[in-house]
Amino acid sequence: MDSKIKTLNDKLQQAYLGGGEARIKKQHAKKKLTARERVEYLLDEGSFEEIGALVTHRTKDFGMENQQFYGDGVITGYGTVNGRLVYVFAQDFTVFGGSLSETHAEKICKIMDIAVNVGAPLIGLNDSGGARIQEGVRSLGGYADIFYRNVQASGVIPQISAIMGPCAGGAVYSPAMTDFTIMVQDTSYMFVTGPNVVKTVTNEEVTSEELGGASTHSVKSGVAHKTSANDVECLEDIKQLLSYLPQSNKEKPTHLPFDLKDEIRKSLSTIVPDSPNKPYDMHEVIKGIIDDDSFYEIHKDHAENIIVGFARLGGKSIGIIANQPMFLAGVLDVDSSKKAARFVRFCDCFNIPMLVLEDVPGFLPGTDQEWNGIIVHGAKLLYAFSEATVPRVTVITRKAYGGAYDVMNSKHIGADMNFAWPNAEIAVMGAKGAAEIIFKKDINTAKDKEAKWKEKEAEYAELFANPYSAAERGFIDEVILPKDTRRKLLKAFSMLENKQVDRPKRKHGNIPL
Ligand code: COA
Repeated sequence: MDSKIKTLNDKLQQAYLGGGEARIKKQHAKKKLTARERVEYLLDEGSFEEIGALVTHRTKDFGMENQQFYGDGVITGYGTVNGRLVYVFAQDFTVFGGSLSETHAEKICKIMDIAVNVGAPLIGLNDSGGARIQEGVRSLGGYADIFYRNVQASGVIPQISAIMGPCAGGAVYSPAMTDFTIMVQDTSYMFVTGPNVVKTVTNEEVTSEELGGASTHSVKSGVAHKTSANDVECLEDIKQLLSYLPQSNKEKPTHLPFDLKDEIRKSLSTIVPDSPNKPYDMHEVIKGIIDDDSFYEIHKDHAENIIVGFARLGGKSIGIIANQPMFLAGVLDVDSSKKAARFVRFCDCFNIPMLVLEDVPGFLPGTDQEWNGIIVHGAKLLYAFSEATVPRVTVITRKAYGGAYDVMNSKHIGADMNFAWPNAEIAVMGAKGAAEIIFKKDINTAKDKEAKWKEKEAEYAELFANPYSAAERGFIDEVILPKDTRRKLLKAFSMLENKQVDRPKRKHGNIPL
């Protein structure tokens, strides 16, 4: 028996070494942790149970039968994060550059299947040179097996991807279909084709970092939801993100203990400036409403005219969608509509109630926006809110103009509770522009055009630049004082906790993509 145990231990020791000491050193020299170190750091101490540590590839071409590494370039298994079950795969760059073989893909698929059947999050730590070149189409088939499962798992269990090294070609599509992609600054990149192919096809000269580094995807493309400074921060970010999420679509997010006090927040009364044209930071409003230090922002540096992220209110997870008057006056445009729509749909999939903070002057005008399809992209957000069945509450902090009023979780598209602050302006447009259009004749024929314009602007403002016309019709449930907002929201979300909506049966809706 002893010799048999020794054989097992020797094999496991080999598996733990991945591609060997020299390649581990190389990995560390790049300021990257190894796959095994990442898994150990991510999961609660001693909780990791590995599945398939002794799997090897089956390729005989190109002398591959003489190059066998236990695990075949990916570590898979399960464990806990803060006591909650998760499934994890971590690609091991020290084994064939973490490249994806048929068996490597089978290992990932195996834990994906269990994760869906059990109902617990899947976390992928990606660090791979892409398809295992020696395996040809078998490797491509492996990718497709994973993509297919990503889609079947979508909306059933949370799927989180960390990009902690290269991720190129077909490999990018698995993270793209998961719920969140977190990239590590300076050591990760994602692109469909690398700089060399780009140069050949388009004659553009671009570095890997410029083409698909963390900054590019966090700021410009929005492919990355978050950037972390290094491997450790990335793993911490994943742990924190998980704390806001339920295990699956069958559950609600966990609650932290919370004692209700008077919950009046006077700081909220002085944030919005008197002038409707002056910006202010909506983060301050968020801070004033939520539990201390509980905001976890998603897409922080992309489409900054809208803020989205998770927070806790009375210890419970909520998703926040808020216009940001500091950027482009908080208008809705192509990028902000897409960013918010995706977030709304995530919250709805996973039973996370939504709070909308609204200060929106409308959609951004111009050829750039029209030619890039603002109609369809704006419709995504409208569609996403309209189909959402989780508790939904809106607070209008200042402007709610035009079609954007409808889109931003209005009563008409299914919001449950709609509040407005006393300074709210709920109208088709600002009073100045409105007066210019509807009183054009009066203004043009007046002796003092400027004075007439001002008079008509005041007339329009008196009628519509307030929340009362909407409140009279019940479009606003209550006009509330800013300092009472947190208290009102705690009560509203608590009242809505058992909300249930049944929709008519259909295969799936046809969201404008
Ligand atoms: N298939 C098989 N082996 C691969 C591989 C792949 N797709 N990508 C990398 N490897 C192997 C390398 O042969 C090398 O093996 P070794 O340790 O035995 O020498 C090891 O992984 C590390 O690769 P290396 O090129 O030395 O690392 P690097 O950090 O300098 O570069 C990449 C990393 C990903 C940029 C580079 O390896 C690369 O371009 N790989 C191919 C990418 C690709 O075209 N994939 C297929 C399309 S999806």
